[in-house]
Amino acid sequence: MIKVLIVDDIPETREHLSRLLGLERDLDVAGTAGTGEEAIKVAMELRPDVIVMDINMPGMDGVAAAEIISQRLPTSPIIMMSVHGEATQLKRAISAGAREFLVKPFSGDEFSASIRTVFEREFARRSQVEASVPALTVPVNPTDDGEHQVIAVFSPKGGAGRTTIATNLAVALHRETGARVCLVDANLQFGDVGVLLNLNPKDRSIADAVETGDPDGDIVDSCVIEHSTGIRVLLAPPSPEGADLVTAHHMRQIIDHLRIGHEYVVIDLPSGLSDLSLAVMDAADTILVMTALEITTIKNVRLFLEVAEQLEYARTKIRLVINRADAAQGIRIADVEASVRRPIDGAIVSDGRLAVLAVNRGVPFVVSHPDSPLSRDVTKLARTLAGETAGVVQDQTNKRGLFARR
Ligand SMILES: Nc1ncnc2c1ncn2[C@@H]1O[C@H](COP(=O)(O)OP(=O)(O)OP(=O)(O)O)[C@@H](O)[C@H]1O
Ligand SMILES: [Mg+2]
Repeated sequence: MIKVLIVDDIPETREHLSRLLGLERDLDVAGTAGTGEEAIKVAMELRPDVIVMDINMPGMDGVAAAEIISQRLPTSPIIMMSVHGEATQLKRAISAGAREFLVKPFSGDEFSASIRTVFEREFARRSQVEASVPALTVPVNPTDDGEHQVIAVFSPKGGAGRTTIATNLAVALHRETGARVCLVDANLQFGDVGVLLNLNPKDRSIADAVETGDPDGDIVDSCVIEHSTGIRVLLAPPSPEGADLVTAHHMRQIIDHLRIGHEYVVIDLPSGLSDLSLAVMDAADTILVMTALEITTIKNVRLFLEVAEQLEYARTKIRLVINRADAAQGIRIADVEASVRRPIDGAIVSDGRLAVLAVNRGVPFVVSHPDSPLSRDVTKLARTLAGETAGVVQDQTNKRGLFARR
């Protein structure tokens, strides 16, 4: 049986299409959805074999929904339906990841035939991929092929050190490689990046980027702040209400724009899973999962790894980093590795005094105290991510001036 999800904003159309497929023995309408948002939700739950979706829907249209679904569920191919059949529509649908296009009105036979074709093509594609790519041949360093890297910093629990590490990592990446680095504060309600870098989101923030709807490259660029450390920063909105303005779809567009102009885009995520964090993680090449040597955090990291597996993220996309690695009470790194059944990719020492001092001054510790063990660990992580064995420090400018708060 081929499991089909039907998405159309008009209830009569959904019923009509369901009835058509009801006549076919090998096709099963596993679910229906009336909006783009609902389509994403239902698709994630059902993991259908084929999705048939209307391109024109109020709110999130078929193209936007297809973009997200084809990222999250690359094994559920999408057939896009439209009444126009224009070339521009077709192009939009294909670039969003649709595999086939149906122009309304179509016959029941055309409908079921295109579902079978798309299903068979996907089946063949998957068998081919499985046969040709032995497991674990994914490159460990995505930058090796010259591509720009999006690094999402996540932890299932708050207070794990995401903001501290994301901020210092962004600066370290820039200092070590000389590359263009953009740090994005995706903790939209309670973003702390501005405090750590002594920047004010009232001047410019992500909220300004989405004020007029879908942000284009120029608008995103105009909201990015140049920081004295040499990195570029897109701050969270100045107040929690501003967070509502930024959707997962916006975030995705923003990342796509930033990826073009920066070798590294480092994104500080809020804890927990949401539509927005999933959109960021889908777009990311690397997800740094910050963990602590502490039982509840380790349990939640394990749960997150299960989710990541369901989302079909490559194993190498996720890197585990233990923060405050030397502050453990009875748990060793090896215990964590055994518990989550994968190696730890980085460990960062605990230095509460320096971490707090850096926040109070608004100067990252990799700048103010580059030789401290804490900074060295973050720099080592930056080099690992940059795929370098020996780091070249290219940007030592402005070191003294940074101590003064602006
Ligand atoms: N390696 C470290 N050693 C000592 N203290 C640290 C270290 N990393 C982070 N901290 C401190 O832990 C606290 C939480 O860190 P941070 O704000 O970066 O975490 P977070 O995961 O972003 O938290 P939130 O859930 O609030 O966003 C801060 O006071 C920070 O200074
Ligand atoms: Mg934080």
